[in-house]
Amino acid sequence: MPGDKADVVMFGPKPIIEEVLAKAPGVQLHKAWEAADHDAYVAKIAPNVRGIAAAGGHGRIDGTFMSRFPNLKIVASFGVGYDHIDAKWAGEHGILVTNTPDVLNEEVADTALGLLLCTVRHLPQAEKYLRAGKWAQHGDYQLTPSLRDRTVGIVGMGRIGKAIARRLDAMKVPVVYHTRRPADVPYKHYQNIVDMARDVDVMVVITHGGAATKNLVNAEVLKALGPQGILINVARGSVVDEDALIKALKDKTILSAGLDVFANEPKVPEALIDMENVVLLPHVGSASHATRRAMDELVANNIVSFFAGKGPLTPVPETPVKK
Ligand code: 8YV
Repeated sequence: MPGDKADVVMFGPKPIIEEVLAKAPGVQLHKAWEAADHDAYVAKIAPNVRGIAAAGGHGRIDGTFMSRFPNLKIVASFGVGYDHIDAKWAGEHGILVTNTPDVLNEEVADTALGLLLCTVRHLPQAEKYLRAGKWAQHGDYQLTPSLRDRTVGIVGMGRIGKAIARRLDAMKVPVVYHTRRPADVPYKHYQNIVDMARDVDVMVVITHGGAATKNLVNAEVLKALGPQGILINVARGSVVDEDALIKALKDKTILSAGLDVFANEPKVPEALIDMENVVLLPHVGSASHATRRAMDELVANNIVSFFAGKGPLTPVPETPVKK
């Protein structure tokens, strides 16, 4: 009801979100992580909670989790990916879910290109070589593969996929892509990911996580990518069969990989850490001050707008706003 303060809970600290919500006239913010007895506190406020700003400190937000809050109306989630939320269940129970699209497109695309260049041209390994004093001792760093003779197959052609493709266009690197349905782009579309893998020697993964894409990049895809193949993943660890990837790297079924995401973050398999031919990043795709601020603000502003009666700003497709 306009005029009423809506009880909104957060489960972990996020200063910018807290700041915006604390100032919002329509919102009463509850900081669950500050309570001495977290569970007792959440149980006490649960019947009144109408919003959740989901930006850390919580696990999977599934039906069981959301059922604890009988008056829940909106879950505003941090990140464009929301595979940690059962949005279908939310939609069926009249709960809106929002994410943070668009504000991170360019940042994640920058990271993807950085990771691609690092992986193809061994830039982190070459830097390590210099720092270890080996340049003066042993001479030049070894020659590396090149992006010049490669076609990149993008898995996913959403907003971030397009931003990656634009960068590759500027670098004069041919692009093709795999999605379930063709997108409105000038690149060659592959319905079948194995067919695409066979035709390219770099694959950049930037598609949704979740059940529909689990292990989409499997042993068969890696085999088709081939011995000169390079896999870049800036999407979700779940999209790639990590065991199959480790085996493919060990057996030289593919050449190398650049990974920003892993199946069981923040745990990274020792087998990957021990490999010289991979570049590993700790899920930093969107992690700049400016972009994280924009994402934080969008989480908070979804809640503020919703409780001001103006609707959510960026609802996910599973929970459309009824006009
Ligand atoms: C965030 C991301 O790092 O937006 C996403 O989906 O993967 C990243 O931008 C992630 O959400 C942090 O939990």
